[in-house]
Amino acid sequence: MPFDAGVVAEIQAKSDLLQYVSQYVTLKRQGREYVGLCPFHSEKTPSFYLNAEKQVWHCHGCSAGGDLIKFVEKYENVDFPAALRLLAARAGVVLQEAPGAQRRRSEREAVYEANAVARRFFADQLQRDKRSLEYLRKRGIAPETAVAFGIGYAPDGWEGLTKALERSGVDLMLAERAGLVRQKTGYYDFFRNRLMFPIYNLTGEVMAFGGRALADETPKYLNTPNTVAYTKGAHVYGLHLARRAASADDTLIVVEGYLDAIALHQAGFKNAVASLGTAFTPEQARELRRVASKLYLCFDGDAAGQAATARSIDMLVEEGLAVSIVVLPAGTDPDELILRGGAEAFRTLLAAAQRWVDFKIELACDRIASKFASKSDIAREAMSVIALVRDPIERDQYTKAMARRLDVSEAALRQARLHSLKAPPRGNVEGAPIRRAPAPTQPVSIERDLLQLIVSRPELLPEALESIAADDLEQPEFRAVYERLGYHARDLARGVNPITLFDEDPIVADLTRMALALPPLPYEDDRHRLALIAARFERRRRERRLSSVDAEINGLITSDRAVPEALRDEYNALAASLRGPAEHTREQD
Ligand code: UTP
Ligand code: MN
Repeated sequence: MPFDAGVVAEIQAKSDLLQYVSQYVTLKRQGREYVGLCPFHSEKTPSFYLNAEKQVWHCHGCSAGGDLIKFVEKYENVDFPAALRLLAARAGVVLQEAPGAQRRRSEREAVYEANAVARRFFADQLQRDKRSLEYLRKRGIAPETAVAFGIGYAPDGWEGLTKALERSGVDLMLAERAGLVRQKTGYYDFFRNRLMFPIYNLTGEVMAFGGRALADETPKYLNTPNTVAYTKGAHVYGLHLARRAASADDTLIVVEGYLDAIALHQAGFKNAVASLGTAFTPEQARELRRVASKLYLCFDGDAAGQAATARSIDMLVEEGLAVSIVVLPAGTDPDELILRGGAEAFRTLLAAAQRWVDFKIELACDRIASKFASKSDIAREAMSVIALVRDPIERDQYTKAMARRLDVSEAALRQARLHSLKAPPRGNVEGAPIRRAPAPTQPVSIERDLLQLIVSRPELLPEALESIAADDLEQPEFRAVYERLGYHARDLARGVNPITLFDEDPIVADLTRMALALPPLPYEDDRHRLALIAARFERRRRERRLSSVDAEINGLITSDRAVPEALRDEYNALAASLRGPAEHTREQD
């Protein structure tokens, strides 16, 4: 949703920087400015300055600074549109309505409103229902926690909510589209006799609900179906509460269930969120990435839980998240763990978290121990895991460690890696040792994505070459293929089939096979795909640049030399641009 400049100005006119910041920072007047302890880094002497006349702030300690919106972005850990939304709500400015336009609200806003009415109704009902209150008590959920998470109860009739919505003037046709009521002869409540967990978006509006059965009915959880405000699998639970805590150390804890996230918050882990299912979607990864770049993935230690974890990892890593794995005792979820062992039990597990690479390698090695796989299978698998590590030096260290562990030469391992890259995709026979064959629908490498796309649609090559250079590709085999494609660009433009150009090369043969396995997309969709791939390359390029600037600055600092302003600016600009995925700077309204 592009914002109307007039609306932005109105929000700014109606909001006061000093008043807003004073909620979070104790400020003292000093001449024309106000001074306090910076909320964005830890310090003992105040270096946070605020100028109320100019409506700007600046910290001399960490060089953060800007206007009110910038402060909200940083403090609330949200992006620009979300910051505007928060400020608009406080200032009573309606964002959706550009001045002069008709007073018409988007359907999504209307769904949020219907959900808000429902949430209030459910919360009221909870206070009247002894059985649910007792249930919460038994599960160790304190009344304040229930309030913080907006927990409620949907009564056991057919029209409790329906009537309440009507009383509040909510159009029942809309309530049906919100997933709150259903229609047969008349309207009736969708959620009945269930404990209700609102699912909030980043700025605190209720998008959907999950309703838990109070006894053994099925399904255990009944969830709002897809609506204009909610897409299953695209959101995480608790992010609106976790984002502020997450901003402190750029870290989120991800668990599976509603009650796990709630139990963690209550135990003091305020940066916990729940994935609400098993394997992650790219949309969820990006939601998380908007708030933090480090994750603790916390899943059940049983086989199913580990398999789900393993499936989630590649995608999260590919989205640029630094992932560590917290392995719970088999059959225990965080909620039970905390009920039994308190916050301390969970803290111990967090401290023992494993980096994702180690976790995946351990999983692979376990199969040698249990004789399910041979050394060479594991070598191949381990190398394909290591290939995902972005930092070349780290990659090298892992390769060395792996060679020691498997007691094979490094050269043999690197050979295994080549082999795994070239291995044609094949399905997994149940019980057979797993050979890693990247599924064409969920490729793990942007380089592979790029080549697949170009091989299946060579007419996009000139466009690809404009934004992606051969040097941007890191896998030597892939770089070589891309270089050769570029070299033959003219032949390809004349309609030469890339397969005939490369048919002696086993990698391209594989890529071709994979490309052919992909369902053909319309030309415009393929162009869009290329644009997304190019954006991912651009992001990676900036990450590289950021780490080299970072190294340069560290070098200057350790040798006691001044850091040039330009370098510092570049660092800040790069870091800011990498804070959220570049293609997601606009709200999905
Ligand atoms: P769990 O079965 O582990 O439930 O499902 P839980 O969260 O631990 O709940 P309690 O402790 O038994 O009360 C994990 C998550 O999977 C989703 C829910 O988001 C749940 O929190 N789920 C599970 C459903 O959506 N529907 C279901 O029927 C079951
Ligand atoms: Mn549970």
